Amino acid sequence: MTKIDKAGSFTIGDRTVKRLGYGAMQLAGPGVFGPPKDHGAALSVLREALASGINHIDTSDFYGPHVTNQLIREALHPYPDDLTIVTKIGANRGQDASWQPAFSKAELTQAVHDNLHNLQLEAIDVVNLRAMFSIHGPAEGSLEETLAVLADLQRQGLVRHIGLSNVTAKQVGDAQKICRIVCVQNMYNIAHRSDDALIDTLAADGIAYVPFFPLGGFTPLQSSTLSGIAARLHATPMQVALAWLLQRAPNILLIPGTSSVAHLRENLAAVELELPQDAVAELDSIVAATAEA
Ligand SMILES: NC(=O)c1ccc[n+]([C@@H]2O[C@H](COP(=O)([O-])OP(=O)(O)OC[C@H]3O[C@@H](n4cnc5c(N)ncnc54)[C@H](OP(=O)(O)O)[C@@H]3O)[C@@H](O)[C@H]2O)c1
Repeated sequence: MTKIDKAGSFTIGDRTVKRLGYGAMQLAGPGVFGPPKDHGAALSVLREALASGINHIDTSDFYGPHVTNQLIREALHPYPDDLTIVTKIGANRGQDASWQPAFSKAELTQAVHDNLHNLQLEAIDVVNLRAMFSIHGPAEGSLEETLAVLADLQRQGLVRHIGLSNVTAKQVGDAQKICRIVCVQNMYNIAHRSDDALIDTLAADGIAYVPFFPLGGFTPLQSSTLSGIAARLHATPMQVALAWLLQRAPNILLIPGTSSVAHLRENLAAVELELPQDAVAELDSIVAATAEA
């Protein structure tokens, strides 16, 4: 039993994971492109994550590209049985580090094989289909053909479970008519709450919701309300932001990203933080203030 067990666990498909996991995107170079500044430090973060009890890692072969998955393999292979690695497909990277849609059958199939190769796996626990109708957030568009390709790769035994990323509630509903969806990964944090209703619907259906940018992503969260509450609770703003997500809904699984062992430890210590109701109410007001700003 490690301290992160205190946050409880949730099920993604047939995999039970602790609610505090790790997002590996920040391990690649600047702009999620190329190798890390410090290769040894990147390996240390991954090893520390597992030593701390984490059993859920989020990644993609388009981080680097290939870099993050290769680091995970170097640091952690052979993987412990209880480790769940979740990857995503649907994009690739231009020479200029741009993010391009990669939704053809050939590109999706290649992406699954690249993930298998770079992670050194025979099957991937969970593959999220990352919608790319807009780079700025979810946008309507049909995922039917692409999901059919992924469902076929699942039938071939290369993919155990299918999830979705950067999607609308309609796309989730439509996808569920094609195949079982075990998780949804969209942008969500204390200041960005477009998915409030979707989270509650998924919770009722026992489907995991995995917010990306839980700490604000490339522009880490900044709010005087958040800092004030953190100071009152003798915690850091990042810990308060994570504790707020943990109390928000039982199906929320955290994958904060960091390239630093110190930040990883700080983030994991968020499980110790109990937010009083008045602090939650105050934190809930941040989103309204952000919308008015
Ligand atoms: N599906 C998608 O489209 C999508 C998009 C983006 C991300 N993701 C996934 O979601 C995961 C989480 O998102 P993210 O990593 O981009 O953003 P995040 O977790 O919101 O924030 C990461 C940023 O916060 C900093 N940070 C982390 N812990 C900190 C701490 N305790 N104190 C101060 N700064 C801290 C990190 O810098 P340091 O490295 O210096 O700690 C990094 O700059 C990713 O790793 C990736 O796996 C998915």
